[in-house]
Order: sequence, then C-alpha cells, then structure tokens
Amino acid sequence: MKVDLNWRWLGGGATILLIGFAVFLAIRSETEARLVRADPDAVPADTSLMRFATAHGKSVYDGHCAGCHGETGTGDPARGIPNLTDADWLYGSGMVSEIEKIVFYGIRSHNPKAWNLAVMPAYTRPLPSKTEPNIPPLTPQGLSDVTEFVVSLGGRPADAAAAKRGGLLFNGQGGCYDCHLPDGSGDTAIGAPNLTDSIWLYGDGSRESIMRSIAKGHEGVCPAWVGKLTPAEIREVAAYVYTLSHQAGQTGS
Ligand code: HEC
Ligand code: HEC
Repeated sequence: MKVDLNWRWLGGGATILLIGFAVFLAIRSETEARLVRADPDAVPADTSLMRFATAHGKSVYDGHCAGCHGETGTGDPARGIPNLTDADWLYGSGMVSEIEKIVFYGIRSHNPKAWNLAVMPAYTRPLPSKTEPNIPPLTPQGLSDVTEFVVSLGGRPADAAAAKRGGLLFNGQGGCYDCHLPDGSGDTAIGAPNLTDSIWLYGDGSRESIMRSIAKGHEGVCPAWVGKLTPAEIREVAAYVYTLSHQAGQTGS
C-alpha cells in the first residue's frame, strides 16, 4: 500500500515535469516565431525579445564565429578579421538587419547574394585589378609615396613632399579615391575601409603594414551561413553581435 502511494507520487511528479517542459518548449517556439516575424531593427527596443535572442545568439556565436572573430568579438588584425565590438563598420552601420544580411550570405563567400562589390587591388602586379583594368601598377617610388600619403591621412607625422606626391596618385592614376573616397574616409556601401582613423583591418597601421596592403591587395572572406544555421539562429546571432557594440553607455551605431 505504502509502496503504491510512492509510485503514484512519483508518477504525478513526472507528469508535472513533462507538462512543465512542454509549456517551456511552447513558450520558446512562440518567442522564436515572434523573433523571426519581427522587423530586425525593432528587436533591440523589445527587451524580452532581445533577452531571448542574445541568450541563444551567444551560443551560436561561440560555436560558429568566435573561432575567427575571437571569444569577445575583438577580431584579429593579423588575419584581417574585423573587430565587432567597436562602432567602425566595413559594411553598413551595425544595424541588426545589416549584420543579419552578412551572416546569411557572407562577404566574398561565393554566395550570389554575398557582399562582393570591391576588392583591394594588388598594386605591384602587372595589372593591379581584374575588375579595374585601367589602373596601372605602382612603381616602387609610387608605392612608397602613396603609403606616406595614407600615413598623413590619420594626422600622423609624414614626409610632406612624399605625401603630396602620394596624394596625387591616390586621387589620380592610382584610382584609390574611387573606393576609399577622395578624403580617404572609406565607403561602407562597398566595404572599403576608412583610412583616416586609427582602426586597421590588416596589421598595425605601421608604414610596413600599409605598404603590404597596397602592394599585395586583400580579399577578406566571411562565410555565408544560409542553409547551415536556421533563420532564427541567424537573427539570434545578429542580435547578439549588435549588443557587442551597443553596450550600455556606448554611442555610435
Ligand atoms: C576597387 C576598390 C579599391 C581601390 C581602387 C583601392 N582600394 Fe584599398 N581597399 C579596398 C577594399 C575593399 C579594402 C578592404 C579589403 C578587405 O576587406 O579584405 C581595402 C583595403 C585597403 C587598405 C587596408 C586598410 C586597413 O584597414 O587595414 C589600405 C591601406 C588600402 N586599401 C589603401 C589603398 C590605396 C592606397 C589605394 C590606391 C593605391 C587603394 N587602397 C585602392 C578597395 C579598394
Ligand atoms: C573563417 C573566419 C570567419 C568566420 C567563421 C566568421 N567570420 Fe565574420 N568576417 C570574417 C572576415 C575575414 C570578415 C571581413 C571581410 C572583409 O574583409 O570584408 C568578416 C566580417 C564580418 C562582419 C562585418 C563587420 C563589419 O565591420 O562590417 C560581420 C558582422 C561578421 N563578420 C559576423 C560574423 C558572424 C556573426 C559569424 C558567425 C555566424 C562570422 N562572422 C563568422 C571572418 C569570419
């Protein structure tokens, strides 16, 4: 009799647990559905949705992005991996919708919807760019002058005569202005970095590393995750990445 009662208690407990778990799953899938239906750029203002998205997004990030972008999102200039925790964006301005688009299709990932509007030409090849056949290569002197000009863009001390010659190349036959804009401030519509600040995608901003970028060119790749992660996971990780550069008190987009 006593044994029977215990079994009944146990059975009752298990049923309550099962019901609880089912309710948990229902709430979770309802919140996930709400997240996927939402306007991505409205998510940050919705506290409960944001809490849900970033909690799940962190595990997606840890599993799929941290290997390149780093555990805390600070990137790796030795490999041309951008920092995701600052307000400096290669593409767009760091809105959830923009981050999400990158996660879906990637950058130069060979997905037809990937960002792939410009590559940094290698200026010491016979022809610096396949896509811009009219740009001639730079001479060693030209390479050194244009490097000096880029150094001067950030307001650092530079050889004035060399920087002046480099500026003529930058805004003339070098064609740099076409992507980085005449003032060197970059173009987030095509992923051309700002050359006037102290944030470097590649290397440490030294003359050597700037010169290497110009001489050898760059075609950084971020993979596409469409088909590998679900749309809900992609939105979750985009919301999480958004928080990395939008901590309380941090300004900028
Ligand atoms: C066709 C467009 C295009 C042209 C022309 C171009 N660039 Fe770039 N440049 C880019 C892109 C895009 C990147 C980023 C590459 C990447 O993300 O892998 C870049 C990267 C760089 C970098 C590295 C920046 C960093 O933050 O590490 C430097 C330096 C640079 N370019 C200087 C120049 C100079 C100087 C010229 C002219 C001699 C020039 N670029 C011409 C598109 C261009
Ligand atoms: C294999 C390494 C690698 C992995 C894995 C990777 N990325 Fe990237 N990611 C890059 C590189 C390299 C770039 C810069 C591409 C360029 O030069 O334009 C980039 C660019 C980005 C950008 C654009 C940053 C900006 O300043 O505009 C975002 C956002 C981003 N990645 C998010 C992610 C997320 C989220 C994941 C995981 C789902 C991820 N990446 C996985 C290498 C990677």
